[in-house]
Amino acid sequence: MLIFESPSAMAAWSSAQRSDHKTIGFVPTMGALHDGHLMLIHEAQQVSDVVVVSIFVNPLQFNRRDDFEHYPRPAALDLERCRERGVTAVYAPTADAMYPAGFDTHIEVGQLAQPLEGAGRPGHFRGVATVVTKLFNAVQPHAAFFGEKDFQQLTVIKRMVIDLDMPINIVGCVTTREPDGLALSSRNARLSPTQRDAAI
Ligand code: PAF
Repeated sequence: MLIFESPSAMAAWSSAQRSDHKTIGFVPTMGALHDGHLMLIHEAQQVSDVVVVSIFVNPLQFNRRDDFEHYPRPAALDLERCRERGVTAVYAPTADAMYPAGFDTHIEVGQLAQPLEGAGRPGHFRGVATVVTKLFNAVQPHAAFFGEKDFQQLTVIKRMVIDLDMPINIVGCVTTREPDGLALSSRNARLSPTQRDAAI
């Protein structure tokens, strides 16, 4: 399994794959991979010659510093899970490679980003749209796979690729759930028993 840490290294490899007429499937993640992510990888593998998984905890999409700092980052385990599942390449850029000093450009999302999670987390979808655009530019995927769990995010990304003429097929994938119905999420590990009951 290949691992790339800079946008230029990732883009060079992807360009070579495209020159070779390989289709690239892409699963963007923030790591702490669970069975929901593995399902996205599986879906990507069904329709792509090569599959890239990105692992990057994006500071731009967190409106609370403590949430960003406590976000789980089991890096070695994540790489192992990708390797086991036959992922072709992992793109794990550093924060400096993504947002070097002087970084000053963002994707502004419109009405779709106003209600629901957008109302509770100001700037969240602006951060998501910006990082996803940067990830798309590096990975150059033919198709990208997102969970329906984050339905507003999926909707925002689908709109963005239409509005910005990005030639990428955005595929929404069914939510993977615990036996009692709770959607799998990297943040579930941080719920107290009371919160976990309420989450269902
Ligand atoms: O859904 C996520 O894990 C993130 O919002 C994404 C799409 C990887 C962007 O950081």
